[in-house]
Amino acid sequence: EAEQGAAYTSGAELGGFANEPDTDPSLPANQRWARALLEQSSAPGWLDTRPAPESLDSVEEVDDRVASGREAALAWRELGARARGEILLRAADVFAARRGEFLATMAAEAGKTLDQSDPEISEAIDFIRYYADRALELEAVEGAEFTPDALVLITPPWNFPVAIPTGSTVAALAVGAAVIHKPSSPTPHCSALLVECLWEAGVPREVLQLVAPTEGEVGKALVAHPGVDRVILTGASETAALFRGFNPELDINAETSGKNALIVTPAADRDLAMADLVHSAFGHAGQKCSAASLAIMVDSTYDSERYRRQLVDAASSLIVDVPANLRATMGPLTEEPSDKLLRALTTLEPGESWVLEPRRLDDSGRLWSPGIKDGVKPGSFFHLTECFGPVLGLMHADTLAEAMELQNQVDFGLTAGIHSLDAAEVATWLDTVQAGNVYVNRGITGAIVQRQPFGGWKKSSVGLGSKAGGPNYLMLFGDWSDGSVRD
Ligand code: ALA
Repeated sequence: EAEQGAAYTSGAELGGFANEPDTDPSLPANQRWARALLEQSSAPGWLDTRPAPESLDSVEEVDDRVASGREAALAWRELGARARGEILLRAADVFAARRGEFLATMAAEAGKTLDQSDPEISEAIDFIRYYADRALELEAVEGAEFTPDALVLITPPWNFPVAIPTGSTVAALAVGAAVIHKPSSPTPHCSALLVECLWEAGVPREVLQLVAPTEGEVGKALVAHPGVDRVILTGASETAALFRGFNPELDINAETSGKNALIVTPAADRDLAMADLVHSAFGHAGQKCSAASLAIMVDSTYDSERYRRQLVDAASSLIVDVPANLRATMGPLTEEPSDKLLRALTTLEPGESWVLEPRRLDDSGRLWSPGIKDGVKPGSFFHLTECFGPVLGLMHADTLAEAMELQNQVDFGLTAGIHSLDAAEVATWLDTVQAGNVYVNRGITGAIVQRQPFGGWKKSSVGLGSKAGGPNYLMLFGDWSDGSVRD
């Protein structure tokens, strides 16, 4: 079996928290290593040989699981943040040692290409190390001001099937809560692998349970169970509303949908702006809650031949293929398109036209070439609706003020960006933009743990003021004696 080569240099030797380095894909040893893994995992039936969650078949079983989780939480909390942190830091090393298995599983199950899956594993490792550290600080106020939750239900998304579930699971574990982890239905094996790594490092199985409800009624009983102190959801706004409907008293913290725009002004660095736009729009085939779905082109940038050609050339040169092709820069959709996405991929609303028409590339229905639609009108379907796929819409604005109105007109407020080298423009924009994560002269996806805490605003967030990967995130997982609500 091929050996993994060196990673990029890490800053860990400088002391304190350092982000985990990605695999260096330019080294031939790493290419051989990744190719062998991704070819192996593309074989039909490979996923069936991998760890999978246990099924949860009845409401009685839900009661049992909740009771055993709450009981196990007592000893877990008693251990203290330092001992828990040592176990979690060991888990970070297990994740690093099993990086290849993660790459293979994410490719086979979610269609993630290497350029997307490898940084996601680094991000998962970052969450573990960062939260293990923060829990020590929080423990200083425990008892006096803060009482951690006993049992947290984690319901993660399928689009970041490793980093996001690892982050919320480990955050709850770090404060001393037990966890029931319910995988997203398209990506159970990614959840099973990350949970297995945490068990391997020493997290007891009763403290971290992994279950997949087999029926809607069982899932509902779990979400609504009075023994669950908190539900952490990353998913669609509709799912958050559904969960609330199960139990109006539910303590839920949810990161939900987005409809994110990047503004490009005539003061932009064109090369940088177009590269960032393409990367933000089409990375993981546009299936990121953070993805750029709209480009709002200000004034002359909208009609500029050079801007247009550069954008279309960059998008057309993406290599769209399955992850077994290491050079692929855009992979398949995780599942066949939803109705909303199909509408975005195949139809034009009044006034729209294709600059680059998306094509269905194979019989699976999951592999599509990137699409760019022009003339998206204010208030239209594509302006306001999250479609979650490889379609970018272009909008025109006469001025920056008009562009900001279009950007803020959406109900969501997850990510937003501007490309401009004019400091006054940027300052105006920063004063006005309504999004949890705002980026200047950078792509709008790929927030980095500790440096860019991630969280939404407006309809992108339910009960979340503390951002993931930031200093306050763990404060969500408990009650504050002063009655304050930290979410
Ligand atoms: N944390 C993910 C990103 O920033 C969602 O793209």
